[in-house]
Amino acid sequence: MTNQWWRDAVIYQVYPRSFADGDGDGVGDLAGIRARLGHLRDLGVDAIWMSPWYPSPMADAGYDVSDFRDIDPVFGDLSEAEALIAEAHEAGIRIIIDIVPNHISSEHPWFQAALKSETAPERDYFWFRKSQNMPTNWIGEFGGTAWTQVDETTWYLHLFTPEQPDLNWEHPAVRAEFESILRFWFDRGADGIRIDSAALLFKDPALPEVTEGAPHPFHDLDAVHDVYRSWRRIADEYSDRALIGEVWMPDVERFTNYLRPDELHAAFNFDFLGCAWDPYLMRSCIDRTLDAHAGIGAPPTWVLSNHDVTRHVTRYGRADTTFSFENNLDGTPVDLELGTRRARAAALLALSLPGSAYVYQGEELGLWENESIPEDQIQDPMYARRGHTRDGCRVPLPWSGDEPPFDFTTGVPWLPQPAEWKDRTVQAQTGDPSSMLELYRSAIRLRTFRDQGFAWLDRGEGVLAWTRGSDFACVLNLSGAPVPLPEHETVLLASGPLDGDRLPQDTAAWLRLRKK
Ligand code: GLC
Repeated sequence: MTNQWWRDAVIYQVYPRSFADGDGDGVGDLAGIRARLGHLRDLGVDAIWMSPWYPSPMADAGYDVSDFRDIDPVFGDLSEAEALIAEAHEAGIRIIIDIVPNHISSEHPWFQAALKSETAPERDYFWFRKSQNMPTNWIGEFGGTAWTQVDETTWYLHLFTPEQPDLNWEHPAVRAEFESILRFWFDRGADGIRIDSAALLFKDPALPEVTEGAPHPFHDLDAVHDVYRSWRRIADEYSDRALIGEVWMPDVERFTNYLRPDELHAAFNFDFLGCAWDPYLMRSCIDRTLDAHAGIGAPPTWVLSNHDVTRHVTRYGRADTTFSFENNLDGTPVDLELGTRRARAAALLALSLPGSAYVYQGEELGLWENESIPEDQIQDPMYARRGHTRDGCRVPLPWSGDEPPFDFTTGVPWLPQPAEWKDRTVQAQTGDPSSMLELYRSAIRLRTFRDQGFAWLDRGEGVLAWTRGSDFACVLNLSGAPVPLPEHETVLLASGPLDGDRLPQDTAAWLRLRKK
């Protein structure tokens, strides 16, 4: 019998470059994370998902991996990773690591061997094509062409940057390698795997153009499911290991295919992440999520932010509160006070819906997107291709003190922190009951209803309300005016001040109901 912890866990995403720096080089590292584990213990999270920590030339901030069985020296070494896993376990926190199967770094020995000789066996591990012209007009995920030329007639495929050549998943050696990598980390105590770009692995070998109405040549090809079935068999050989997919997929049915009982345990809910702050759209997104997951018996997930998207304090402070990569809202006006009020309410929403909730580092501090990083300091490769940078959500965390670097490092942080974050440090917020940090700490501590059933409560137009079990309710006011709270015994937690017995706009409350 397993405890299936991933079904209702609070999972905190650590972005190692920006969490805490232990050696003063301005880049976060494992020593920094180990020294700050107490923050995660105090927050009460069940698990940490670590963004990639492997050796990498960092063409895409570590999502270009050159060795999956080691740690990049900027972060530390393998023995420190093992120590971190052990210390997290001692603190009751599980560790999920990030595996990037769609591509590897162009510096990886496989790609280097493939480049050296046309007859090298490694050549077939990738998508090399002989052609006078570009083999297809596919556009990569960051924008721009998906092919790079190595000589006059030879090209290789990369759905991301040229430094991230795509692997050929038809090749048995590729499959075998990743199965071995999974075991390598499960053997070292990893409790779960986050699977990067999980729906992109297979390509139609005929390389057709992308045509409207025709099957997409590299999104969500059916063959990918066979890979995840074999990964699931491996996870099941260990106890309580979870596979969590990064699956961006508007089609709910195609999305839930990844969650069939013999495939992944969970997948990120990007539908929720991108949803507008609007009662009707939010309600239908929640219903869609719950229905789709109930149908397949998989736990829903609730994600507000991650290292790829504009922080939600900023998103919810804009006139257009949606998120998508296609709709670049960078630089449009933001009301941070409004965004913060809504982000507080959103935390109580995400943490009380059934399933697991993800917290991206810094959201518990109420950090906003840093939209004023000087152009010459931008490192994200997406910027050159799409004119949007993800660096604004990757800025190092403020821990204490009154000015940058806020004890993130003794050196110079790799990205600049806003001076205004002096009120958002862990130190400044600790013990302040009105702070975002204390809101998250209380909410996570109060999540004792996590295994209780969910039911909607009808509280009228613009109000989202639900119960968990017989004596807990969450009410979120998305209408334009204060609304009365349902009858209750106590207000357990509120995202903002109440207006007598009424719940103001953009505010959420958790209630203890009288037992019937
Ligand atoms: C995923 C990651 C993103 C990365 C990309 C390529 O979307 O979350 O950060 O750039 O894959 O690996």
